[in-house]
Amino acid sequence: MVVVEQLNRWYTIDKKRHQILKDISFHVKRGDFVLLRGVSGSGKTTLLSILAGLEKPSSGKVLIDGEPIAKLPDIHLSHFRAKKVGIIFQHFNLIDSLSLQDNVLVPLVALKIGLQEAKAMAERALKSANIAHKSEAYPTKLSGGEKQRGAIARAIVADPPLLLCDEPTANLDRANSLLFIDALHKLHQEGKTIIVATHDPIFDAIDFPHTIIDLKDGQIV
Ligand SMILES: Nc1ncnc2c1ncn2[C@@H]1O[C@H](COP(=O)(O)OP(=O)(O)OP(=O)(O)O)[C@@H](O)[C@H]1O
Ligand SMILES: [Mg+2]
Repeated sequence: MVVVEQLNRWYTIDKKRHQILKDISFHVKRGDFVLLRGVSGSGKTTLLSILAGLEKPSSGKVLIDGEPIAKLPDIHLSHFRAKKVGIIFQHFNLIDSLSLQDNVLVPLVALKIGLQEAKAMAERALKSANIAHKSEAYPTKLSGGEKQRGAIARAIVADPPLLLCDEPTANLDRANSLLFIDALHKLHQEGKTIIVATHDPIFDAIDFPHTIIDLKDGQIV
């Protein structure tokens, strides 16, 4: 599902090269559950952004479901992302001026799905994320746990095989973090490939099979 080979990412500031990711290589098989761990600044968000096609590598190879995403032109990239990758963020990143249902419809725009079918897909995703009863609500009226369940619905609405989560429990209390992990477990059992960047120790206790990738100063240790 994910092939990363000899990936490097650097920024050049004042002619000086700042290396953020160094010679990263790993594979993730379809259906795997991966914890990407590392202290603040170790490069987790940068790596997830590259896997999502939101950022380009400076060098190296990245294949998502066989597609070399760094080489896709932007016009194909948004379609590819909508079909293949669901993203869940620390700050939920819902659009406050849209109802939850409309937030969940957003990823379907790039897929040019008709409104009737799109609404049915959103309804299914909201039900599956246990938040259908709030579909008319606006994000500012939702609790943190409810927003994150809404973000799950948005991530899965197009049924992408790969889910990327960046510090998804950082703004949740313990009870909601455990509910979130249960929801991920269910999606994992349904066959999704899931990569979670986190330094939340609550993930140390997960009792289903998973792989750990530890990042330190932009390198796998
Ligand atoms: N646009 C940028 N320009 C220059 N440096 C950047 C840029 N984006 C990130 N960095 C640097 O890259 C390093 C890795 O950042 P990244 O956000 O990937 O870390 P992280 O592991 O996600 O940290 P956290 O746990 O705090 O979210 C940091 O030192 C950061 O300052
Ligand atoms: Mg981060």
